[in-house]
Amino acid sequence: LRRVYLTRHGESVFNLSGQLGGDSDLSERGVAYARALGQYLRKKLFPAESPAAESPGMDPCASHPTSEGGACVATATAAAVAAVSAGCWGPKFEVWTSTLSRTIETASHLPPATMKYSWAALDELDAGLCDGLTYAQVKERYPADFAARDDDKLNYRYPEGESYRDVLLRLEPVLLAIECRTSENLLIVGHQAILRCVYAWMFGIPVESMPYIEIPLHGVLELTPTPAGWSENRYSFGI
Ligand code: F6P
Repeated sequence: LRRVYLTRHGESVFNLSGQLGGDSDLSERGVAYARALGQYLRKKLFPAESPAAESPGMDPCASHPTSEGGACVATATAAAVAAVSAGCWGPKFEVWTSTLSRTIETASHLPPATMKYSWAALDELDAGLCDGLTYAQVKERYPADFAARDDDKLNYRYPEGESYRDVLLRLEPVLLAIECRTSENLLIVGHQAILRCVYAWMFGIPVESMPYIEIPLHGVLELTPTPAGWSENRYSFGI
């Protein structure tokens, strides 16, 4: 069964200071979330994994040259057996991140058999001249913009930046690719505005409501296809 997992990146240094956008690293808490996410997915997707694969210094997937590309050729070697038990040939599992450090760092503790792609289209909504400011600073320096965004968050475009509508347009290839992935599990490590768009599209939520969808930090949305559409489970790891 193919599932789609959505998560925001772990808490970043900018999240801590309340600054918009940027390309900051994860905070300590963010790193703890990245680790917990790795554990969660490892258990979820590769329950048959042998304890040996978790021993420090042993990474059977990495030592097997064909495990990353997905097209594995069976060879009856000890390495191949270890690779199977570590999940390399288990369910196919792709990870998509943005090109920003906080999503890449969040994905850095995931099981070794995953294929990882960084999409610029998944980068956070561009806050333009307001990038790096806090909401309070935006209100103080650009009061008319702050009010305009409050009035119409969907269509408001940051000066030299983007609106939610702009983001939805540039996400189109990603959304189509989600639709095409019917045999692989997929984890998207994204950003707040981006995941609002992805989630709204998957669940057919009206675009006017999209900028207000709740996508908390440090939680995973597990989406399973059903004949009636996607069903959803939410997990958090108390971090
Ligand atoms: O605060 C985190 C963040 O991802 C910012 O980088 C981004 O500008 C913002 O959320 C998007 O959320 P909203 O559209 O509600 O301001």
